[in-house]
Amino acid sequence: MRTSLRTSLRSSPRTSPTTRRPSSGARLAALFTGVSAVAALLVAAPAAQAAADTPLRDLAAARGKAIGTAVTGSKLTGTYGDIAGREFNWLTPGNAMKWASVEPSRGTFDWTEADRIVDFAEAHDQDVRGHTLVWHSQNPDWLANGTWTPAQLRQLMTDHIALEVGRYKGRLAAWDVVNEPFNEDGTFRQTLWYNGLGADYIAQALTAARAADPAAKLYINDYNVEGVNAKSTALYNLVKDLKARGVPIDGVGLQAHLILGQVPATFQQNIQRFADLGLDVAVTELDIRMQTPATDAKLAQQRTEYEAVFKACVAVSRCTGVTVWGFTDSDSWIPDTFPGEGAATPYDANYQPKPAYYGIVTALGGTVTEPPPPTGCSAAYSVQSQWNTGFTGQVTISCAAGSSLSSWRATWTFGAGQRISQAWNATCTQTQAAVSCANASWNGSVPSGGSVTFGFNASWSGSNPAPTVTLG
Ligand code: G3I
Repeated sequence: MRTSLRTSLRSSPRTSPTTRRPSSGARLAALFTGVSAVAALLVAAPAAQAAADTPLRDLAAARGKAIGTAVTGSKLTGTYGDIAGREFNWLTPGNAMKWASVEPSRGTFDWTEADRIVDFAEAHDQDVRGHTLVWHSQNPDWLANGTWTPAQLRQLMTDHIALEVGRYKGRLAAWDVVNEPFNEDGTFRQTLWYNGLGADYIAQALTAARAADPAAKLYINDYNVEGVNAKSTALYNLVKDLKARGVPIDGVGLQAHLILGQVPATFQQNIQRFADLGLDVAVTELDIRMQTPATDAKLAQQRTEYEAVFKACVAVSRCTGVTVWGFTDSDSWIPDTFPGEGAATPYDANYQPKPAYYGIVTALGGTVTEPPPPTGCSAAYSVQSQWNTGFTGQVTISCAAGSSLSSWRATWTFGAGQRISQAWNATCTQTQAAVSCANASWNGSVPSGGSVTFGFNASWSGSNPAPTVTLG
Protein backbone atom coordinates (compact mmCIF):
# COMPACT_ATOMS: atom_id res chain seq x y z
CA MET A 1 0.00 0.00 0.00
CA ARG A 2 1.98 3.06 1.11
CA THR A 3 5.11 1.28 0.14
CA SER A 4 4.58 2.39 -3.42
CA LEU A 5 4.14 6.08 -2.71
CA ARG A 6 6.85 8.09 -4.34
CA THR A 7 8.03 11.60 -3.72
CA SER A 8 10.45 13.74 -5.59
CA LEU A 9 11.61 17.31 -5.87
CA ARG A 10 9.75 17.80 -9.14
CA SER A 11 7.12 20.50 -8.98
CA SER A 12 4.33 18.61 -10.66
CA PRO A 13 0.87 18.93 -9.10
CA ARG A 14 0.33 16.69 -6.17
CA THR A 15 -2.43 14.25 -5.68
CA SER A 16 -3.58 12.72 -2.46
CA PRO A 17 -2.51 9.18 -1.82
CA THR A 18 -5.04 6.75 -0.53
CA THR A 19 -3.74 5.62 2.79
CA ARG A 20 -5.06 2.98 5.06
CA ARG A 21 -4.13 1.83 8.51
CA PRO A 22 -4.18 -1.81 9.39
CA SER A 23 -7.59 -1.93 11.00
CA SER A 24 -7.50 -5.14 12.91
CA GLY A 25 -5.14 -7.47 14.62
CA ALA A 26 -5.06 -11.21 14.95
CA ARG A 27 -8.03 -11.35 17.32
CA LEU A 28 -10.31 -9.42 15.02
CA ALA A 29 -9.11 -11.47 12.09
CA ALA A 30 -10.24 -14.57 13.93
CA LEU A 31 -13.81 -13.29 13.69
CA PHE A 32 -13.72 -13.53 9.92
CA THR A 33 -12.88 -17.18 9.49
CA GLY A 34 -15.65 -17.59 6.91
CA VAL A 35 -14.14 -15.38 4.25
CA SER A 36 -12.57 -17.00 1.26
CA ALA A 37 -8.88 -17.05 0.61
CA VAL A 38 -7.47 -14.93 -2.15
CA ALA A 39 -4.48 -16.37 -3.87
CA ALA A 40 -2.57 -13.15 -3.42
CA LEU A 41 1.14 -13.63 -3.80
CA LEU A 42 2.59 -10.23 -3.30
CA VAL A 43 6.07 -9.14 -2.52
CA ALA A 44 6.41 -6.34 0.00
CA ALA A 45 9.26 -3.90 0.17
CA PRO A 46 11.09 -4.08 3.49
CA ALA A 47 9.68 -1.52 5.90
CA ALA A 48 13.03 0.27 6.06
CA GLN A 49 12.54 1.26 2.42
CA ALA A 50 8.84 1.95 2.72
CA ALA A 51 9.08 5.73 2.76
CA ALA A 52 9.72 8.19 -0.01
CA ASP A 53 12.24 8.12 -2.82
CA THR A 54 13.47 11.52 -1.70
CA PRO A 55 14.07 11.52 2.04
CA LEU A 56 12.53 14.36 4.03
CA ARG A 57 15.99 15.62 4.95
CA ASP A 58 16.85 16.18 1.29
CA LEU A 59 13.59 18.00 0.67
CA ALA A 60 14.19 20.15 3.75
CA ALA A 61 17.81 20.84 2.85
CA ALA A 62 16.75 22.03 -0.61
CA ARG A 63 14.64 24.66 1.20
CA GLY A 64 17.40 25.53 3.66
CA LYS A 65 15.44 24.03 6.55
CA ALA A 66 16.15 21.58 9.29
CA ILE A 67 13.92 18.59 9.82
CA GLY A 68 14.50 16.90 13.12
CA THR A 69 13.17 14.24 15.39
CA ALA A 70 13.42 13.51 19.06
CA VAL A 71 15.05 10.13 19.56
CA THR A 72 15.60 7.51 22.21
CA GLY A 73 19.28 6.58 22.07
CA SER A 74 18.83 2.91 22.93
CA LYS A 75 16.53 2.46 19.93
CA LEU A 76 18.89 3.79 17.26
CA THR A 77 19.29 0.43 15.51
CA GLY A 78 17.21 -1.63 13.10
CA THR A 79 14.33 0.04 11.32
CA TYR A 80 14.13 2.85 13.91
CA GLY A 81 17.77 3.73 13.31
CA ASP A 82 17.39 3.42 9.54
CA ILE A 83 14.53 5.92 9.46
CA ALA A 84 16.11 8.31 11.96
CA GLY A 85 19.29 8.41 9.88
CA ARG A 86 17.69 8.52 6.47
CA GLU A 87 14.84 11.00 6.90
CA PHE A 88 16.11 13.62 9.37
CA ASN A 89 19.01 16.06 9.43
CA TRP A 90 18.61 17.07 13.08
CA LEU A 91 18.20 14.98 16.23
CA THR A 92 17.08 15.98 19.69
CA PRO A 93 17.62 13.58 22.59
CA GLY A 94 14.10 13.10 23.98
CA ASN A 95 15.33 12.51 27.52
CA ALA A 96 19.03 11.65 27.45
CA MET A 97 20.45 15.12 28.11
CA LYS A 98 18.08 16.11 30.90
CA TRP A 99 19.64 16.68 34.30
CA ALA A 100 18.06 13.58 35.88
CA SER A 101 19.47 11.46 33.04
CA VAL A 102 23.03 12.77 33.14
CA GLU A 103 23.53 13.24 36.90
CA PRO A 104 21.13 10.93 38.73
CA SER A 105 23.21 11.12 41.92
CA ARG A 106 25.19 14.20 42.77
CA GLY A 107 28.59 13.91 41.17
CA THR A 108 27.74 10.63 39.41
CA PHE A 109 27.32 11.08 35.69
CA ASP A 110 25.88 8.92 32.94
CA TRP A 111 26.50 10.20 29.45
CA THR A 112 25.97 6.86 27.73
CA GLU A 113 22.75 7.60 25.89
CA ALA A 114 23.57 11.24 25.20
CA ASP A 115 26.94 10.25 23.72
CA ARG A 116 25.29 7.55 21.67
CA ILE A 117 22.91 10.04 20.08
CA VAL A 118 25.65 12.57 19.33
CA ASP A 119 27.87 9.84 17.84
CA PHE A 120 24.95 8.58 15.72
CA ALA A 121 24.24 12.11 14.51
CA GLU A 122 27.82 12.69 13.49
CA ALA A 123 27.92 9.37 11.67
CA HIS A 124 24.80 10.39 9.76
CA ASP A 125 25.80 14.00 9.06
CA GLN A 126 23.10 15.35 11.37
CA ASP A 127 23.00 18.31 13.73
CA VAL A 128 22.01 17.91 17.36
CA ARG A 129 19.76 20.14 19.41
CA GLY A 130 20.71 19.82 23.08
CA HIS A 131 17.68 19.46 25.32
CA THR A 132 17.52 20.79 27.98
CA LEU A 133 19.65 22.54 30.59
CA VAL A 134 17.41 24.47 32.99
CA TRP A 135 13.90 23.13 33.54
CA HIS A 136 11.52 22.50 36.40
CA SER A 137 10.96 18.86 35.41
CA GLN A 138 13.10 15.73 35.15
CA ASN A 139 15.62 17.08 37.63
CA PRO A 140 17.35 14.55 39.88
CA ASP A 141 15.83 14.10 43.33
CA TRP A 142 18.99 15.31 45.04
CA LEU A 143 18.60 18.63 43.25
CA ALA A 144 14.81 18.97 43.36
CA ASN A 145 14.53 18.00 47.03
CA GLY A 146 17.62 19.84 48.26
CA THR A 147 17.63 23.03 50.26
CA TRP A 148 19.81 25.61 48.60
CA THR A 149 20.78 29.20 49.21
CA PRO A 150 20.51 31.43 46.14
CA ALA A 151 24.30 31.41 45.82
CA GLN A 152 24.43 27.61 45.94
CA LEU A 153 21.62 27.29 43.46
CA ARG A 154 23.24 29.66 41.04
CA GLN A 155 26.51 27.75 41.33
CA LEU A 156 24.75 24.44 40.75
CA MET A 157 23.05 25.81 37.65
CA THR A 158 26.10 27.42 36.11
CA ASP A 159 28.33 24.42 36.94
CA HIS A 160 25.80 22.10 35.30
CA ILE A 161 25.68 24.24 32.19
CA ALA A 162 29.46 24.57 32.02
CA LEU A 163 29.88 20.81 32.38
CA GLU A 164 27.20 19.63 29.96
CA VAL A 165 27.61 22.28 27.30
CA GLY A 166 31.37 22.05 27.68
CA ARG A 167 31.31 18.29 27.21
CA TYR A 168 29.78 18.69 23.76
CA LYS A 169 31.47 21.97 22.84
CA GLY A 170 31.72 22.33 19.09
CA ARG A 171 29.53 19.29 18.45
CA LEU A 172 26.02 20.57 19.13
CA ALA A 173 24.40 23.14 16.88
CA ALA A 174 21.89 24.48 19.39
CA TRP A 175 20.76 24.19 22.99
CA ASP A 176 17.36 24.59 24.60
CA VAL A 177 18.97 26.43 27.48
CA VAL A 178 15.83 27.32 29.40
CA ASN A 179 12.72 25.19 29.04
CA GLU A 180 9.14 26.17 29.82
CA PRO A 181 9.66 29.28 31.96
CA PHE A 182 6.10 30.61 31.67
CA ASN A 183 2.63 29.95 33.01
CA GLU A 184 -0.30 30.06 30.60
CA ASP A 185 -1.17 33.63 31.63
CA GLY A 186 2.32 34.85 30.83
CA THR A 187 3.57 35.13 34.41
CA PHE A 188 6.78 33.33 35.30
CA ARG A 189 6.37 29.75 36.39
CA GLN A 190 7.22 29.23 40.07
CA THR A 191 10.10 26.79 39.83
CA LEU A 192 13.19 25.82 41.72
CA TRP A 193 15.03 28.34 39.60
CA TYR A 194 12.61 31.23 39.63
CA ASN A 195 11.89 30.90 43.31
CA GLY A 196 15.57 30.76 44.19
CA LEU A 197 17.11 33.18 41.72
CA GLY A 198 14.28 35.35 40.40
CA ALA A 199 13.64 35.94 36.71
CA ASP A 200 17.29 36.69 36.15
CA TYR A 201 18.08 32.95 36.25
CA ILE A 202 17.25 33.00 32.54
CA ALA A 203 19.91 35.57 31.66
CA GLN A 204 22.41 33.82 33.93
CA ALA A 205 21.78 30.49 32.25
CA LEU A 206 22.14 31.92 28.75
CA THR A 207 25.34 33.70 29.69
CA ALA A 208 26.81 30.51 31.15
CA ALA A 209 25.87 28.54 28.04
CA ARG A 210 27.48 31.08 25.72
CA ALA A 211 30.68 30.94 27.75
CA ALA A 212 30.74 27.14 27.56
CA ASP A 213 30.21 26.92 23.79
CA PRO A 214 30.28 30.22 21.89
CA ALA A 215 29.27 28.49 18.64
CA ALA A 216 26.04 26.88 19.81
CA LYS A 217 22.77 28.68 19.13
CA LEU A 218 20.99 29.39 22.39
CA TYR A 219 17.24 29.07 22.73
CA ILE A 220 14.39 29.51 25.17
CA ASN A 221 11.81 26.82 24.51
CA ASP A 222 8.16 26.60 25.60
CA TYR A 223 4.77 25.07 24.76
CA ASN A 224 1.46 26.75 23.99
CA VAL A 225 3.41 29.64 22.48
CA GLU A 226 2.70 28.71 18.85
CA GLY A 227 -0.08 31.25 18.32
CA VAL A 228 -0.29 34.86 19.43
CA ASN A 229 -1.53 34.66 23.04
CA ALA A 230 -0.66 35.84 26.54
CA LYS A 231 2.05 33.22 26.99
CA SER A 232 3.77 33.80 23.64
CA THR A 233 3.57 37.56 24.20
CA ALA A 234 5.32 37.12 27.54
CA LEU A 235 8.02 35.12 25.74
CA TYR A 236 8.20 37.83 23.09
CA ASN A 237 8.65 40.56 25.70
CA LEU A 238 11.27 38.50 27.54
CA VAL A 239 13.47 37.82 24.51
CA LYS A 240 13.10 41.40 23.31
CA ASP A 241 14.30 42.59 26.70
CA LEU A 242 17.16 40.06 26.79
CA LYS A 243 18.36 41.20 23.38
CA ALA A 244 18.16 44.83 24.41
CA ARG A 245 20.28 44.02 27.45
CA GLY A 246 22.88 42.20 25.38
CA VAL A 247 22.14 38.82 26.94
CA PRO A 248 23.13 36.03 24.53
CA ILE A 249 19.93 34.68 22.96
CA ASP A 250 19.71 33.37 19.40
CA GLY A 251 16.26 31.93 19.11
CA VAL A 252 12.98 30.76 20.49
CA GLY A 253 11.67 27.22 20.36
CA LEU A 254 7.97 26.75 19.82
CA GLN A 255 7.33 23.19 20.99
CA ALA A 256 4.04 22.67 19.12
CA HIS A 257 2.45 19.81 21.03
CA LEU A 258 -0.79 20.33 19.14
CA ILE A 259 -4.25 18.80 19.21
CA LEU A 260 -6.00 17.75 16.01
CA GLY A 261 -8.24 20.59 14.86
CA GLN A 262 -6.50 23.17 17.05
CA VAL A 263 -3.54 24.44 15.06
CA PRO A 264 -3.48 28.15 15.93
CA ALA A 265 -4.54 30.39 13.06
CA THR A 266 -1.81 32.87 14.05
CA PHE A 267 1.04 30.36 13.86
CA GLN A 268 2.90 31.96 10.95
CA GLN A 269 2.21 35.49 12.19
CA ASN A 270 3.66 34.52 15.55
CA ILE A 271 6.79 33.01 14.01
CA GLN A 272 7.19 36.19 11.99
CA ARG A 273 7.01 38.52 14.98
CA PHE A 274 9.84 36.68 16.71
CA ALA A 275 11.84 36.67 13.48
CA ASP A 276 11.29 40.41 13.21
CA LEU A 277 13.12 40.80 16.52
CA GLY A 278 16.20 39.37 14.82
CA LEU A 279 15.81 35.93 16.36
CA ASP A 280 15.74 32.46 14.89
CA VAL A 281 12.60 30.42 15.45
CA ALA A 282 12.54 26.65 15.59
CA VAL A 283 9.51 24.42 15.89
CA THR A 284 11.06 22.03 18.37
CA GLU A 285 8.62 19.31 19.46
CA LEU A 286 5.84 18.97 16.92
CA ASP A 287 3.20 16.33 17.36
CA ILE A 288 -0.54 16.46 16.62
CA ARG A 289 -2.53 14.13 18.80
CA MET A 290 -6.01 12.76 18.34
CA GLN A 291 -8.49 10.57 20.15
CA THR A 292 -7.68 6.98 19.32
CA PRO A 293 -8.41 4.88 17.41
CA ALA A 294 -7.29 6.86 14.41
CA THR A 295 -9.63 6.86 11.42
CA ASP A 296 -8.89 7.64 7.79
CA ALA A 297 -10.71 10.96 8.22
CA LYS A 298 -8.68 11.96 11.27
CA LEU A 299 -5.43 10.93 9.60
CA ALA A 300 -6.35 12.97 6.53
CA GLN A 301 -7.00 16.01 8.72
CA GLN A 302 -3.72 15.40 10.52
CA ARG A 303 -1.96 15.38 7.16
CA THR A 304 -3.39 18.81 6.36
CA GLU A 305 -2.31 20.13 9.72
CA TYR A 306 1.24 18.77 9.52
CA GLU A 307 1.45 20.38 6.10
CA ALA A 308 0.21 23.70 7.50
CA VAL A 309 2.76 23.72 10.32
CA PHE A 310 5.65 22.98 7.98
CA LYS A 311 4.39 25.54 5.48
CA ALA A 312 4.30 28.21 8.18
CA CYS A 313 7.97 27.53 8.88
CA VAL A 314 8.90 27.41 5.20
CA ALA A 315 7.24 30.79 4.72
CA VAL A 316 9.45 32.59 7.26
CA SER A 317 13.12 32.68 6.40
CA ARG A 318 14.25 32.86 10.03
CA CYS A 319 12.29 29.75 10.90
CA THR A 320 15.17 27.29 10.96
CA GLY A 321 13.11 24.14 10.77
CA VAL A 322 10.77 21.71 12.43
CA THR A 323 11.53 18.86 14.81
CA VAL A 324 8.91 16.20 15.48
CA TRP A 325 8.69 14.82 19.01
CA GLY A 326 9.31 11.24 18.02
CA PHE A 327 8.79 10.10 14.45
CA THR A 328 6.81 6.93 15.16
CA ASP A 329 3.66 6.33 17.16
CA SER A 330 5.55 3.56 18.96
CA ASP A 331 7.96 6.11 20.45
CA SER A 332 5.64 8.93 21.47
CA TRP A 333 4.97 10.35 24.95
CA ILE A 334 1.30 10.99 24.16
CA PRO A 335 -0.44 7.69 25.06
CA ASP A 336 1.26 7.58 28.48
CA THR A 337 0.41 11.17 29.31
CA PHE A 338 -3.01 11.48 27.66
CA PRO A 339 -4.76 8.11 27.95
CA GLY A 340 -7.09 7.60 25.00
CA GLU A 341 -5.07 9.87 22.73
CA GLY A 342 -2.20 9.12 20.38
CA ALA A 343 -1.36 8.58 16.70
CA ALA A 344 0.44 11.93 16.95
CA THR A 345 3.53 11.35 14.79
CA PRO A 346 4.23 10.95 11.04
CA TYR A 347 4.87 7.17 11.15
CA ASP A 348 2.61 4.49 12.56
CA ALA A 349 3.77 2.02 15.18
CA ASN A 350 4.94 -0.38 12.42
CA TYR A 351 7.21 2.29 10.93
CA GLN A 352 4.94 2.87 7.96
CA PRO A 353 4.62 6.52 6.89
CA LYS A 354 1.19 7.96 7.64
CA PRO A 355 -0.66 10.61 5.63
CA ALA A 356 1.02 13.19 7.89
CA TYR A 357 4.36 12.14 6.39
CA TYR A 358 3.11 13.08 2.95
CA GLY A 359 1.81 16.38 4.31
CA ILE A 360 5.40 17.14 5.28
CA VAL A 361 6.62 16.08 1.83
CA THR A 362 4.15 18.46 0.19
CA ALA A 363 5.04 21.38 2.45
CA LEU A 364 8.74 20.86 1.71
CA GLY A 365 8.14 21.05 -2.03
CA GLY A 366 8.21 17.36 -2.84
CA THR A 367 5.54 15.69 -4.87
CA VAL A 368 3.51 12.69 -3.88
CA THR A 369 2.48 10.30 -6.55
CA GLU A 370 -0.71 8.49 -5.82
CA PRO A 371 -0.28 4.76 -6.11
CA PRO A 372 -2.96 2.63 -7.68
CA PRO A 373 -5.48 1.61 -5.05
CA PRO A 374 -4.02 -1.22 -3.04
CA THR A 375 -5.08 -4.68 -4.05
CA GLY A 376 -4.39 -8.11 -2.69
CA CYS A 377 -2.55 -8.98 0.46
CA SER A 378 1.05 -8.15 1.30
CA ALA A 379 3.61 -8.59 4.03
CA ALA A 380 5.78 -5.89 5.66
CA TYR A 381 8.93 -6.79 7.59
CA SER A 382 10.44 -4.59 10.28
CA VAL A 383 13.05 -4.81 13.01
CA GLN A 384 11.39 -3.68 16.25
CA SER A 385 14.53 -3.64 18.37
CA GLN A 386 18.09 -4.78 18.01
CA TRP A 387 20.95 -5.41 20.42
CA ASN A 388 24.53 -6.53 19.92
CA THR A 389 23.77 -10.18 19.16
CA GLY A 390 20.03 -10.38 18.61
CA PHE A 391 16.95 -8.61 17.38
CA THR A 392 13.18 -8.77 17.49
CA GLY A 393 11.52 -8.80 14.10
CA GLN A 394 7.92 -8.34 13.09
CA VAL A 395 5.92 -9.16 9.99
CA THR A 396 2.51 -7.62 9.34
CA ILE A 397 0.28 -9.25 6.75
CA SER A 398 -2.33 -6.82 5.44
CA CYS A 399 -5.18 -7.30 3.00
CA ALA A 400 -6.61 -4.43 0.99
CA ALA A 401 -10.33 -3.93 0.66
CA GLY A 402 -11.78 -6.73 -1.43
CA SER A 403 -9.05 -9.23 -0.60
CA SER A 404 -8.76 -11.67 2.24
CA LEU A 405 -6.93 -14.81 3.33
CA SER A 406 -8.05 -17.88 5.23
CA SER A 407 -4.50 -19.12 5.77
CA TRP A 408 -1.06 -17.76 5.02
CA ARG A 409 2.61 -18.55 4.86
CA ALA A 410 5.34 -15.90 4.79
CA THR A 411 8.74 -16.87 3.43
CA TRP A 412 12.02 -15.09 3.07
CA THR A 413 15.75 -15.61 2.83
CA PHE A 414 18.05 -14.09 5.40
CA GLY A 415 21.00 -12.52 3.63
CA ALA A 416 23.51 -12.25 6.45
CA GLY A 417 23.33 -15.39 8.54
CA GLN A 418 20.47 -14.32 10.83
CA ARG A 419 18.85 -17.23 12.71
CA ILE A 420 15.42 -17.34 14.30
CA SER A 421 15.36 -18.72 17.84
CA GLN A 422 11.73 -18.13 18.78
CA ALA A 423 8.52 -16.99 17.09
CA TRP A 424 5.06 -16.01 18.29
CA ASN A 425 1.70 -15.84 16.53
CA ALA A 426 3.17 -18.06 13.78
CA THR A 427 4.99 -21.36 13.38
CA CYS A 428 8.39 -20.67 11.87
CA THR A 429 10.98 -23.07 10.52
CA GLN A 430 14.39 -22.17 9.19
CA THR A 431 16.53 -24.30 6.88
CA GLN A 432 19.87 -22.60 6.43
CA ALA A 433 18.95 -19.14 5.20
CA ALA A 434 15.37 -20.00 4.17
CA VAL A 435 12.62 -19.05 6.63
CA SER A 436 9.03 -20.17 6.38
CA CYS A 437 6.37 -18.96 8.82
CA ALA A 438 2.82 -20.30 8.72
CA ASN A 439 -0.19 -18.94 10.55
CA ALA A 440 -1.05 -20.21 14.01
CA SER A 441 -4.38 -21.97 14.49
CA TRP A 442 -6.10 -18.74 15.54
CA ASN A 443 -4.83 -16.17 13.05
CA GLY A 444 -4.96 -17.73 9.59
CA SER A 445 -7.84 -15.51 8.60
CA VAL A 446 -7.01 -11.98 7.38
CA PRO A 447 -10.20 -10.12 6.47
CA SER A 448 -10.69 -7.54 3.76
CA GLY A 449 -9.01 -4.35 5.02
CA GLY A 450 -7.50 -6.17 7.98
CA SER A 451 -4.09 -7.32 9.13
CA VAL A 452 -2.31 -9.92 11.25
CA THR A 453 1.08 -9.54 12.89
CA PHE A 454 3.60 -12.09 14.09
CA GLY A 455 6.99 -11.67 15.67
CA PHE A 456 10.23 -13.47 16.30
CA ASN A 457 13.58 -13.24 18.01
CA ALA A 458 16.70 -13.96 16.00
CA SER A 459 20.45 -13.67 16.17
CA TRP A 460 22.61 -11.55 13.88
CA SER A 461 26.21 -10.51 13.51
CA GLY A 462 28.01 -8.17 11.18
CA SER A 463 24.97 -6.73 9.49
CA ASN A 464 21.23 -7.24 9.65
CA PRO A 465 19.71 -6.37 6.28
CA ALA A 466 15.93 -6.58 5.94
CA PRO A 467 14.83 -9.41 3.65
CA THR A 468 12.02 -9.31 1.11
CA VAL A 469 9.02 -11.29 2.33
CA THR A 470 6.92 -13.34 -0.03
CA LEU A 471 3.38 -14.23 0.94
CA GLY A 472 1.69 -17.37 -0.13
O1 G3I B 1 13.30 5.56 32.13
C1 G3I B 1 12.19 5.16 32.93
C2 G3I B 1 12.05 3.66 32.94
O2 G3I B 1 13.18 3.10 33.57
C3 G3I B 1 10.77 3.30 33.70
O3 G3I B 1 10.57 1.91 33.61
C4 G3I B 1 9.57 4.00 33.09
C5 G3I B 1 8.29 3.71 33.86
O4 G3I B 1 7.39 4.79 33.77
O5 G3I B 1 9.80 5.39 33.11
C6 G3I B 1 10.94 5.76 32.35
O6 G3I B 1 11.07 7.16 32.40
C7 G3I B 1 10.14 7.87 31.62
C8 G3I B 1 10.92 8.72 30.63
O7 G3I B 1 10.03 9.55 29.90
C9 G3I B 1 11.70 7.85 29.62
O8 G3I B 1 10.81 7.09 28.87
C10 G3I B 1 9.33 8.76 32.55
O9 G3I B 1 8.51 7.97 33.39
C11 G3I B 1 8.49 9.71 31.73
O10 G3I B 1 7.87 10.66 32.61
C12 G3I B 1 9.35 10.46 30.75
O11 G3I B 1 8.50 11.25 29.96
C13 G3I B 1 9.16 12.25 29.22
C14 G3I B 1 8.56 13.61 29.55
O12 G3I B 1 9.20 14.59 28.76
C15 G3I B 1 8.72 14.02 30.99
O13 G3I B 1 8.13 15.28 31.17
C16 G3I B 1 8.94 11.95 27.76
O14 G3I B 1 9.58 10.74 27.40
C17 G3I B 1 9.51 13.10 26.94
O15 G3I B 1 9.17 12.90 25.58
C18 G3I B 1 8.92 14.41 27.42
O16 G3I B 1 9.42 15.46 26.67
C19 G3I B 1 8.97 16.77 27.02
C20 G3I B 1 10.07 17.73 26.64
O17 G3I B 1 11.26 17.37 27.28
C21 G3I B 1 9.70 19.16 26.98
N1 G3I B 1 8.44 19.51 26.39
C22 G3I B 1 7.33 18.60 26.66
C23 G3I B 1 7.71 17.18 26.27
C24 G3I B 1 6.55 16.24 26.49
O18 G3I B 1 6.25 16.11 27.84
